[in-house]
This record gives sequence, structure tokens and C-alpha cells, in this order.
Amino acid sequence: MRKKIVAGNWKMNTLLKEGMELARAVEKLEKEKKSDAIVVIAPPFTHLSKVNELISSVRLGAQDCSMHPSGAYTGEVSPGMLKSCGVEYVIIGHSERRSYHRENNRLLHEKVKGSLVEGLKPIYCCGEVLEERESGKLYDVVREQLSVGLGGLSPEEISQVVIAYEPVWAIGTGAVATPDQAQEMHKFIRELLAELFDRGIAERTTILYGGSCKPSNAGELFANPDVDGGLIGGASLKAEDFMAIVNAY
Ligand code: PGA
Repeated sequence: MRKKIVAGNWKMNTLLKEGMELARAVEKLEKEKKSDAIVVIAPPFTHLSKVNELISSVRLGAQDCSMHPSGAYTGEVSPGMLKSCGVEYVIIGHSERRSYHRENNRLLHEKVKGSLVEGLKPIYCCGEVLEERESGKLYDVVREQLSVGLGGLSPEEISQVVIAYEPVWAIGTGAVATPDQAQEMHKFIRELLAELFDRGIAERTTILYGGSCKPSNAGELFANPDVDGGLIGGASLKAEDFMAIVNAY
């Protein structure tokens, strides 16, 4: 059985007090949830240790990490630092990091490795831009992102990794992928994992969908056999909406 996960990526939103209120509200609703999905929230770095004190059922995630374990890297936050704040999951390779910070697949591979060394579970993001979809390159792009980003991991390492397919054209746009588009890519990713690793690993890996997922469309996305949950941006900033997505599972 694969783990079902619904993770909230708060991005650069909420001041500390608001973030603490949001975390408290999510924790309260989590206790009443109808779904068996694991609920993760990924607040900004500055909120992590405070939020960690407020949650017990909800799991803590971070939005990024350094590829380095420590040292003279001004402004960076290491996987070990995240771990010391109670972080369990770390989003790596979000499209906003790839485009605004020019993070490439090789660098992301180093971040994945570094986070695994600390015992964190990477949520590794992949996904094509609209032009790549329209020109039919979407599968080549995702293949490259996964084979470079995750290739060469040991069976123990890959078993800690969660994948998030986030078509860039669907992120924050309201243009959600259709259930068929999501299923097709998730199936492709699972086949690719079987090729890069083995069938057992492919079947056990959790693959999340992300991009304009809302309470109104989550149910039909999660009904797909290869969609194992969601990575939620905008709708994770309201506890009721976020937990309605969880309960749509
Ligand atoms: P969105 O963002 O739900 O606001 O589209 C998803 C994400 O970027 O993880």
C-alpha cells in the first residue's frame, strides 16, 4: 500500500502569528479528518520551530534546503537545521525554485542526497511548462527531471522520496490539469521509476499532483489510480479549504 499524502506549501505567505494560527487550525481539523491521508504543512523557514510546537498529528515540512551540510553559505538553511526544528519532509525542486533561482536537476540531485543523509523525506517536484506540453516535449522534460534528480539513489534512499507532479501551467493559475492529464503523467512517472529502479519501488512510491488543486476538483484528481495525494499551494492557506481537500480523499 502506498502512503497517501496531502501537503500544504504555504510559499512566502503568513507572518509568524498568522502562520501559528493557521497551523493550530489545521491541527484541530486534522484530528477530525475522515481520510487516512498523511497531512503535511510546509510553512516558511522562520515559522518552523514555533509551528512544530503546535502540531502533533500534522507533519512538518520545509519548502527548500541547501545542498550543503554546513559552512559559509550566507542565507542558506541546511537539511540538518531543518531536522533540528522537527521537519520531516522537504520540498525540493519546486518550479518556483527552478525558474526564479535557476535550480537545475544536478543541483537538485545534491539537495535530495543531502536531505536523505539527515533522514528527511524529500518531496521532489517535476513538471513541464505550457510550451513543452504543447510541443509534445512534456514526457522528455519529466524524464530528464527524474532521471537526473533521482537517478542513482539506492533502494533505501528512493523509498524515502515522494514525487510531486506539478505542471507549471497549472500552478497558481486556476488551470488545473484534467484528471486524465494527471493520470497519464502519473502513470508515466511510475513506469519511469520501474525503469530507473524496479517495479516494487515504482508501486510503493507516492506521487502527488499539484497545481490549482481545490476542494471542488480534488476528489476527481485523487480518484485516479496513480494519484496518491496532492501538493497544495493557494488553497493550503485556509485551514477549512485545505482540510476539505484532505477529506476529498
Ligand atoms: P497552487 O500551487 O495550488 O497554488 O496552484 C501548487 C504548488 O505550487 O505547490
